[in-house]
Amino acid sequence: ALPQHVKLVEVGPRDGLQNERNVGTAAKVELINQLSASGLTYIESGSFVSPKWVPQMADSADVFAAIERHSGITYAALTPNLKGFENAMLAGADEVAIFGAASEGFSQRNINCSIAESLARFEPVIAAAKAKQIKVRGYISCVLGCPYDGDIAPAQVAAVAERLYRMGCYEISLGDTIGVGTPLAAQRMLSAVAERVPMEQLALHFHNTYGQALANIANCLPLGVSTIDSAVAGLGGCPYAKGASGNVASEDVVYMLHGMGIETGVDLNQLIAAGQSICATLQQAPRSLVAQAEIAK
Ligand code: HMG
Ligand code: MG
Repeated sequence: ALPQHVKLVEVGPRDGLQNERNVGTAAKVELINQLSASGLTYIESGSFVSPKWVPQMADSADVFAAIERHSGITYAALTPNLKGFENAMLAGADEVAIFGAASEGFSQRNINCSIAESLARFEPVIAAAKAKQIKVRGYISCVLGCPYDGDIAPAQVAAVAERLYRMGCYEISLGDTIGVGTPLAAQRMLSAVAERVPMEQLALHFHNTYGQALANIANCLPLGVSTIDSAVAGLGGCPYAKGASGNVASEDVVYMLHGMGIETGVDLNQLIAAGQSICATLQQAPRSLVAQAEIAK
């Protein structure tokens, strides 16, 4: 059955802006403040990774220091290791996310270690978070295909998901990093993972490179998944996945869910306004057809 309510995880300020030209701290803060006003309850606001690897996120501490915090909104950060976790805590992140992969090729290129090494590296992060009562989300990249290793078996995704879940991640976000998935493959993958991790603990994180993200989400919703990651204006991509484009646009997801009678708590107009502002700064049109249609009205 379809969920009645979907929780949206807005990743635009992180996943989006990590792969656009660096817009500067003030524009990032303004984007997050605008998103906070739209009714979103979860905003991934930056990442504490090596600035040599992702220079666009080097000012995440400054971003966290400057945003207006609203009660009821989780401002989260990506943390690949203990150093990142400590910096995220100093910056006042509410929650953190570790990020692994279902493929060895992507793991090596994105975080410079094997899947097994990455899991070992996450252990102390989870332990430190537990000690501070900070929740940890776990990402898995390349769940529907890898730019280096090609096809990925659903069983491989399920195995990594189960490990992250048992290690203590409260939610596992399933990343179609390069947007190659199609609806039946997405359903098969989600079903396989849901045999090992409860559906309520799973999220979809689909990039829209091949224009399939919305169709994939629509076909996974009847399986009961109720957390969706998206980026306002379809911003971004991943610097370590060549050709990867942005996440599915938040405006498109909200429009589709509301049309299906599924609540999100998000005001579409305010979301569109937030996307318009950041796209003006980036000097590009929002990569959301819903936003384009509403703006043209
Ligand atoms: P490494 O080079 O193997 O790490 O990188 P290292 O421990 O040997 O450290 C090398 C240097 O980095 C040292 O500095 C460390 O201090 C520094 P140096 O001595 O050379 O001056 N360093 C750090 N600096 C700041 N913060 C840190 C940190 N850690 C080490 N936390 C590492 C390993 C994981 C650090 C590196 O590979 C890295 O930062 N990777 C991040 C890549 C990234 O951010 N990718 C994008 C996010 S993932 C994504 O977008 C996918 C997702 O959206 C889901 C999907 O769509 O699939 C989540
Ligand atoms: Mg991503």
